[in-house]
Amino acid sequence: MENALIISDTHFPYEHPDTFDFLEDVSYAYRLTKIMHSGDMVDNHTGSYHEIEYGTLSPKEEHYQSKEKIQRLNKMFPKMDVIIGNHGAMSRRKAKTAGIPEDILKSYNDMYEIKGWDWKDKFYFEVDEYAKCLLVHSMGANTLSNARNHSHHSIQGHHHGRFGVEFFGDTEVLRWSMTVGCLIDHQAPAFNYGSKATLNRPIIGVGAIIDDDPRVIRMQLDKHGRWNGKA
Ligand SMILES: [Fe+2]
Repeated sequence: MENALIISDTHFPYEHPDTFDFLEDVSYAYRLTKIMHSGDMVDNHTGSYHEIEYGTLSPKEEHYQSKEKIQRLNKMFPKMDVIIGNHGAMSRRKAKTAGIPEDILKSYNDMYEIKGWDWKDKFYFEVDEYAKCLLVHSMGANTLSNARNHSHHSIQGHHHGRFGVEFFGDTEVLRWSMTVGCLIDHQAPAFNYGSKATLNRPIIGVGAIIDDDPRVIRMQLDKHGRWNGKA
């Protein structure tokens, strides 16, 4: 398959401040041409079912800023397979709670005024002549168990503090599973809930498939939490 970039958990507009520069450099440096996003493109903090944190944006401003960032990413990567994710689906979940019929809701491309992206809950794609891979927002937190328990390779996001590839092999199969980390700004007030629930820090980075082989590429951060520019 062509070399792939797997972006995850950008949580616009609360993404890491170096997200766009990092994605541009990594995709160029590793010649990644098939672009995927494993979910939570947007945070939808004000639309969530949880308490709204102090210091976050108004609903209108949050949507406006998210839309701007999605349009910027759409210009960088005009074709993308996008997993919706639990945060991404928030407006549809709220509409469902309110009993609003699905057929009067806008598509994601219309909502963000973009073209060319395909939004789904999951995708399967061919990696090589032997195996398919499932791209989804969340499976189990244990990457090795995911490799062991499913009949295909798999890629997930969602678990912001988990980042890596695990392989499972027996006499019949050799399978891998990848958990991609995230691209959030963990200082943003929208993530205060996470800092109380766990001491684990998010791992900032992306996934890739290069020559049919799964990799994770960490954003190397300096002591101020900014990218050091190495791809
Ligand atoms: Fe997320």
